[in-house]
Amino acid sequence: MLPVSLVAGSAWIGSEGITTMKALVLSGGMGTRLRPFTHSMPKQLMPIANRPVVEHVLDDVRRAGAVDVGVVVGDHAEEIERAVGDGSRLGLRLTYLRQDAPLGLAHCVLLARDFLGDDDFLMYLGDNILSDGVAGMARAFAADRPDVQLAVHRVPDPREFGVAVVGDDGTVLRMEEKPQDPPGDLAVMGAYFFTSAIHEAVAAIRPSPRGELEITDAIQWLVSAGRPVRAVEHTGFWQDAGDIPGVLRCNRWALDGTRREIRGWVDESSVLNGPVVVEPGARIVRSRIDGPVIVGARTVIEDGHVGPHTSVGRDCVIRRSGIADSIVLDDAELVGVPGLHSSIIGRSASVRPTDTSALGPSLVIGDHGRAEVRI
Ligand code: G1P
Repeated sequence: MLPVSLVAGSAWIGSEGITTMKALVLSGGMGTRLRPFTHSMPKQLMPIANRPVVEHVLDDVRRAGAVDVGVVVGDHAEEIERAVGDGSRLGLRLTYLRQDAPLGLAHCVLLARDFLGDDDFLMYLGDNILSDGVAGMARAFAADRPDVQLAVHRVPDPREFGVAVVGDDGTVLRMEEKPQDPPGDLAVMGAYFFTSAIHEAVAAIRPSPRGELEITDAIQWLVSAGRPVRAVEHTGFWQDAGDIPGVLRCNRWALDGTRREIRGWVDESSVLNGPVVVEPGARIVRSRIDGPVIVGARTVIEDGHVGPHTSVGRDCVIRRSGIADSIVLDDAELVGVPGLHSSIIGRSASVRPTDTSALGPSLVIGDHGRAEVRI
């Protein structure tokens, strides 16, 4: 990381005097890879260690020094607003900006023009989870304020990402969106820092073959114009919570950071190993919990085995059941089903064994749901 100039709240002293940094958090998108959950909730509200993924993102934004945050929302605008409100609970001032169709990341910058004014800003994809957040990157950006600073991460197959070709001094030499023949292995992550120079670039580009205004094209426009565009390499954990394996990976990673905290009731015959969080009103009876695990408020676990790497929402019932490496959303029940793993159980869903006289498993699962059963 480059040396720090000064970061204080949402203002810093950069090379051109005092400036403020806003943030743009992108929470639109259809979330098709997270069906069936996204039929009834936006992907940004998927719980990671029992907190919506967008709250993890907003925490990072605050730690990076931004307070005024524009949240770009699509079809699920009301639910996101209901969940995070005006942001005061998270120490932020949120402004919701409606995007009627997913027309691309650069389109989000265009529609946020009035909100952003001429301030520097951090643009953060609302489903990205990364270790250490983006505060270090914000300090690096504040130190020399290039027109763009983007974060990159080495991946074995960058074809589904933007790819940056970066010189030894961190200068971005070339950008390409989802190249079939990638010119390197540095994938562009979902955390970009911009000065107001980006506005001219997003106005200049045309939609890509997938019909979107690509931020990659806007940044390439600045590179071609000889403007300063830099990359910082992130070497820690990075995952977008955009599909089922991604959500489970984020959950595992977030749970690894939890510490033991018992605020519910645990009976004497239960065994709790490692970092286990039991929220108020939860009851653990004759059960074994192998952390890291979070048990949500008012949830009952009876004769169960939960964990490791499992988060259970509020008001759930887990009885005579076992579950590991999984997420159980609020109000769900598992009764008499041992050995579940790598599962996501939706809100108010119920999993029980079939009647012994039945021919085989009986399923009631939502559109685009998926069940793997031993028959
Ligand atoms: C977007 C960007 C891409 C970047 C990726 C990071 O892709 O266009 O350059 O690498 O986010 O998650 P999308 O998610 O729109 O396919």
